[in-house]
Amino acid sequence: MTHTFLDYYGNEVSLSFRREPFSDQPWHVLVLCRYKDQWLLTKHPRRGLEFPGGKVEKGEVPEGAAIREVWEETGARINILHYLGQYEVRGRSDTIVKNVYFADIAYLQTKNGYMETKGPLLLETIPEALEKNRNFSFIMKDNVWKLAKEYVDAHFL
Ligand code: GTP
Repeated sequence: MTHTFLDYYGNEVSLSFRREPFSDQPWHVLVLCRYKDQWLLTKHPRRGLEFPGGKVEKGEVPEGAAIREVWEETGARINILHYLGQYEVRGRSDTIVKNVYFADIAYLQTKNGYMETKGPLLLETIPEALEKNRNFSFIMKDNVWKLAKEYVDAHFL
């Protein structure tokens, strides 16, 4: 089943929990991280709070990008990385495909810098209605987070 909805900016998004339904070479990853019964997010300087993630580099597999981005943006090391699903965002000029993972975090290490972010933030709960919450990034404001959270709750928590 594919879920189709609009994102915060009105771009059409399709999300599916099947194995890489849109592309077997996705160039983006998003990692929902759990550490000691809390959600682990990163503080993006412009977008706000969001799960770690980013672009898959040349010569890298998506799982490798997931591990690297989580380390760079939060200082966390992953114990187990689970594939959840994939989504496609059809923007005005380009279409991006992003793999979504669920990561069980082994430990958090304090670092001097967190690349382009302001580092980690642990939250016991993430507020329900994020649409108008200025602390959170736009990527948390569409049905990707809502549906992925339901999936994680049903399968992992
Ligand atoms: P940088 O991340 O700074 O390199 O920016 P970029 O402009 O190259 O952006 P990127 O290739 O990551 O994404 C292109 C566009 O896709 C963005 O402007 C967003 O509109 C959209 N996009 C990227 N990631 C997401 C996401 O997780 N959710 C939604 N809804 N849109 C996204």
